[in-house]
Amino acid sequence: MKFFIDTANLDEIREAYDLGVLDGVTTNPSLMAKEGISGDENVTAHYKAICDIVDDKVSAEVIATEFEGMIKEGKELAKIDDKIVVKIPMIKDGIKAIKYFHSEGIRTNCTLVFSAGQAILAAKAGATYLSPFIGRLDDISFDGLELIEQIAHIYQNYDFETQILAASVRHTMHLIKCAEIGADVVTCPLKVITGLLNHPLTDKGLAQFLADHAKVNKK
Ligand code: E4P
Repeated sequence: MKFFIDTANLDEIREAYDLGVLDGVTTNPSLMAKEGISGDENVTAHYKAICDIVDDKVSAEVIATEFEGMIKEGKELAKIDDKIVVKIPMIKDGIKAIKYFHSEGIRTNCTLVFSAGQAILAAKAGATYLSPFIGRLDDISFDGLELIEQIAHIYQNYDFETQILAASVRHTMHLIKCAEIGADVVTCPLKVITGLLNHPLTDKGLAQFLADHAKVNKK
């Protein structure tokens, strides 16, 4: 399973990359706004800065919502760096744009996915990644993980090449359950990745080992 970090914050991206387990980055307009990034030039420079930190797979989202605009913007984003994956919303023109980028060999991430029907459409169009938002489904009392399971089953039935990128991941159990189901990728905040480190018995055991070592190695 690949780990993507879901942020536009450069320090957090660096910290996750330094851990040695990071496979990519996802951003969205809200995450870019949170970092105070605005204006075409600054947005481009920020995506470039992210690409300079990681090895590959940086999702950059289009703002346009009609076909021509998405194509123009997506091409500009793809030009920033070979590591860019063009993120396209799950709407009618978005499906057409995904199909277009697929034929051009440009990778896409279909975002704002909340149903199995949408997942089928995106795979048929040739999306590289599909982003079902599990946390936002949980927020409104639908089971986000159940959707990941359903999509995984459907994609297996037809050998769809689209990779399931579980998004809107809020905590470590989301990530672990996604791994059990077989999601190809999970994108999450840094605290979810580092949260996997935590176990009180690890801390207790290490403290004991160090104490025992110190007892017989007094200077
Ligand atoms: C990632 O691609 C999504 O934009 C992101 O995971 C959404 O997460 P949120 O529901 O926590 O905003």
